[in-house]
Amino acid sequence: MKVLHPAAGALALATMLAFWLSTAFGEISGNMEVIRSVKLAIPWGLPLLIPALAFAGFSGFRLGGRWNHPAVAAKKKRMPLIALNGLLVLVPCALVLRQLAVNADFGAIFYAVQALELCAGATNIVLLGMSFRDGLRLKRRIRA
Ligand code: HEM
Repeated sequence: MKVLHPAAGALALATMLAFWLSTAFGEISGNMEVIRSVKLAIPWGLPLLIPALAFAGFSGFRLGGRWNHPAVAAKKKRMPLIALNGLLVLVPCALVLRQLAVNADFGAIFYAVQALELCAGATNIVLLGMSFRDGLRLKRRIRA
């Protein structure tokens, strides 16, 4: 658990960052072919991201059960927000954007959903980063 928990957390954070950065660079490039490939590729990463996130949460609650520490309480509070934002906002956005990209339909709906996905994605990256930092603090690998 002690090894797999941070590994799963790191994998979830790295995957979210990769999705966000590839989306942002695609948009900045303005190249429709790049944007389309990124939107088609992201759903393939979900079978990696979702189990990694679920396992980080599950193992975190197992590890943290007996801890009475504010950093653990903060991690416990953040986890449902991360999961709900992921499952109710990010996954549906990724699937809608994939479908629109398949149809080469890059109109107003595409950009509205894309903006929502970037905001919700940035929120989850910050929340995951805070839980990562709190984990390192709990291990005293960085200063409190
Ligand atoms: C997905 C979000 C999470 C991430 C990215 C994350 C990340 C980490 C990291 C990097 C460590 C440090 C481990 C080490 O340096 O060896 C850690 C430790 C820890 N995490 Fe998490 N964690 C997450 C969720 C949670 C949750 C939800 C809980 C509890 C409710 C939790 C409880 C703990 C505890 C108690 C430790 C210390 C374990 C020990 O000292 O053996 N984590 N976490």
